[in-house]
Amino acid sequence: MSEQRTAMVTGARKGIGRHLVEHLLASGWHVTGCSRKASELRHDNYTHFEADVSDEKAAKTLFKSIRKGAGRLDALINNAGIAGMNHALLTPMDAVERVLRTNVMGTFLYSREAAKLMKRGGGGRIVNFSTVAVPMALEGEAAYAASKAAVESLTRVLAREFGSFGITVNAVGPTPIDTDLIRAVPEDKIRGLLSRQALPRLGEYADVTNVVDFFLRPESAFVTGQVIYLGGVS
Ligand SMILES: NC(=O)c1ccc[n+]([C@@H]2O[C@H](COP(=O)([O-])OP(=O)(O)OC[C@H]3O[C@@H](n4cnc5c(N)ncnc54)[C@H](OP(=O)(O)O)[C@@H]3O)[C@@H](O)[C@H]2O)c1
Repeated sequence: MSEQRTAMVTGARKGIGRHLVEHLLASGWHVTGCSRKASELRHDNYTHFEADVSDEKAAKTLFKSIRKGAGRLDALINNAGIAGMNHALLTPMDAVERVLRTNVMGTFLYSREAAKLMKRGGGGRIVNFSTVAVPMALEGEAAYAASKAAVESLTRVLAREFGSFGITVNAVGPTPIDTDLIRAVPEDKIRGLLSRQALPRLGEYADVTNVVDFFLRPESAFVTGQVIYLGGVS
């Protein structure tokens, strides 16, 4: 059985997830990633699964493969997420359902499956993804903000349910970061949003990595059920 630290990153193909995978690999972790499409990333310590995070059968296959391979899981980063940025009156129900399935059900499913493995190994770290859209109550993002509010609730409840297994559950809440997720948002809306932050600039990948690293540190074993927002949003 390998003693190398092993992480699972969802939504690993591009954006923040891809950056996190590269960061963890550079720090010596073994990483398994997933997303709906294939990844172009090639690395000896990286395995990519084409899996939708809301697909329970695919999740079971994926976690079984980690159990049989590395035999352990030290960290789960529930990064996969989609946004449906539109006024509520213009938002069809299938768009709402897609957002909830990916962001809420995906986070729940992967946390549950990961916790089974982490419990066997004596502990672990789960890091979820929220957004400043929750505390800012951003108009035009009702389904997205509601889905991430649910992720925050999962973070707090699972922190209690998994605490006795040595598993911490926390969340990072990024400000806008220049990825495909926000590419369709008009520039003036982004500018307006940034002006409401204590530190009015776009977020960088490194801002997120820093918070994730903090949650993953062995010294953070007493930090759980917390949501850390970036940019001075509260
Ligand atoms: N960028 C921002 O401004 C911002 C701000 C606050 C919070 N966040 C959060 O940060 C996280 C990452 O966002 P990002 O900006 O990096 O987005 P992104 O560039 O659009 O990347 C999203 C990633 O998730 C994967 N994905 C999407 N739906 C999936 C599904 N159903 N199952 C598995 N993988 C799926 C995508 O790959 P495939 O297409 O291959 O599935 C991709 O790798 C999200 O949770 C987002 O809500 C982002």
